[in-house]
Amino acid sequence: MAKNILWIPGPTEVRPEILAECARPMIGHRSKAMTALTERLDPHLKLAFGLAQGSTAHVAVHTCAATGMMESSLRGVGPKVLCLVNGSFSKRFAEIAEQVGKTVVKLSVPMGQSVSMNDLETALREKGPFDAVTLVSNETSAGVRTPLAEVAAVMKKFPDVMLLVDLVSYIAGAPVDFDANRMDFAFAGIQKALALPPGLTVACASQRYLENAKNQKLRGFYLDPINIIEGHEQRATPATPAISLYYALAKQLEDISAGVMLYDANKGKTGAAAWRARFDEHLTMVKTCEAWAERQGLKYLAVPALRSPTVSCIEKGDLDVAALIAGLKEKGHEIGNGYGDLKDKSFRIGHMGDHTNTRLKEMLAQLDVVVDQLRRAAPQAR
Ligand SMILES: Cc1ncc(COP(=O)(O)O)c(C=O)c1O
Repeated sequence: MAKNILWIPGPTEVRPEILAECARPMIGHRSKAMTALTERLDPHLKLAFGLAQGSTAHVAVHTCAATGMMESSLRGVGPKVLCLVNGSFSKRFAEIAEQVGKTVVKLSVPMGQSVSMNDLETALREKGPFDAVTLVSNETSAGVRTPLAEVAAVMKKFPDVMLLVDLVSYIAGAPVDFDANRMDFAFAGIQKALALPPGLTVACASQRYLENAKNQKLRGFYLDPINIIEGHEQRATPATPAISLYYALAKQLEDISAGVMLYDANKGKTGAAAWRARFDEHLTMVKTCEAWAERQGLKYLAVPALRSPTVSCIEKGDLDVAALIAGLKEKGHEIGNGYGDLKDKSFRIGHMGDHTNTRLKEMLAQLDVVVDQLRRAAPQAR
């Protein structure tokens, strides 16, 4: 059976040449070859996290799902945590904080919104002192991004509070600027805008996060952030890593930095310019999706300023979401249903990773056909 092209909000399409990297012969994880493989990653991870010149932050890779790194990030901070909740994954971050024994204060807004910076500042001032704030930069469940620079501006007024950031559907789709945005621990799975098979997370920790983490007790072992960062830096991971995925990650990062998938005017860019061009291409795809929704009389869940660079969450309007998804699948493309409370009330298009604007337009043309068929079949719904 032919596979559908994935436009779900992750995992995303993986290029065949990247999948082929996973088929390389196995090597020992304590071998020189493994050290060399790990060393290929760091310069590109620094670009992915947007580290400033002379940054003292530490990058790492860990074999686990991104949820594991939510937990890991929390194990390195003190007992009181403020969790910004605006969707299913930020809710999960808060739940994990409770599960690992933190005293949690939640600042919650409905899906489709992001926490206001006034409310963040007030909570930090009046409900603290806090040891850390958790933030999901791009709520994949609702297609909402929280502006990182605005969060940073507030956090700079509270220099002792650690900022823990989920970058899962954000990294490689938009600029992270880890130092400029005053992050302390940030992480992402590789199955979204990095366009890789799932199974690894990439992470970045500030020097002060690591120093502070050393004072925290009961950090566990497999998810101890110190073990993860030091294991990566010493090229001696605490447990056997997913070596095949390291090969895929190394090639994909090198390809992104070499501008291999860039198109049109961006062709030929390399290094940091290639990463910036990749972000611009994601923005182009958002615009294409927005124009499509408007043409079809459909509304985004989020207001324009908060729309995700990688995931469009569109309200169902007069459409039957299950029928829409099924109809498009017959045409060889797969989009996502709404997540959690938004299931069957919205649908999500993941326009990220190595997808191009041209390919997106082709998919949306097919979606037009399906929408048209559904509206003809149920004209009274309009
Ligand atoms: C924003 C966000 N955070 C966390 C996760 C969880 O990732 P994982 O399934 O790799 O644990 C997801 C998955 O979609 C996500 O979108």
